[in-house]
Amino acid sequence: MNVNTIELNRARQSLEDYDEIWLFGYGSLIYKVDFPYLEKSPAYIQGWARRFWQGSHDHRGTPEKPGRVATLIKQSNARCDGMAYRVTEGVFEHLDHREKNGYLRHEVSIMLVKENGQIIKKRGLIYIADEDNEAYLGETSEQQIACQIAASCGPSGENSEYLIALDQALTDLGADDQHVKNISAYLTQLLADKPS
Ligand code: SIN
Repeated sequence: MNVNTIELNRARQSLEDYDEIWLFGYGSLIYKVDFPYLEKSPAYIQGWARRFWQGSHDHRGTPEKPGRVATLIKQSNARCDGMAYRVTEGVFEHLDHREKNGYLRHEVSIMLVKENGQIIKKRGLIYIADEDNEAYLGETSEQQIACQIAASCGPSGENSEYLIALDQALTDLGADDQHVKNISAYLTQLLADKPS
């Protein structure tokens, strides 16, 4: 499957009118930081919920057997915790390539949570894979999601590693995400039951 969003993202928004560019990560961008940044801060966004509803054909699965990775869905009272990075424009060359399987850059208000508890609002960017992209898998039960994750593997490794690393990163941030926790609990059970 080729749902390449690189060109779409390049044309998407001008970054020239940003004094500072903040990027909010809520999935692998929290724990796999393979890009340079100027500063980072725990942060959250409002009105979005993290869901394992996006297919991964290029990182954590294959076109024949896609894995499942995180995207965001609109939910009015939701809060999604993650990590914000202040970056330069050049970073998007790499990130657009990394997030090319259906993710589009969107503008959003990012709330930085400083060590003293102060909240600072910044205008920034996030990558979202919405239901219109071809790789989108959509909603199913958390148990089904865990089964698919347990069975998937791609060029970036086991799909289970993605979930385990995200769950750990959210715990380290002190973030409470019941969706991730539930899938993680099912996955732990599945891996324990797996014959070695
Ligand atoms: C993100 O982490 O913010 C986007 C989704 C991903 O790369 O896992």
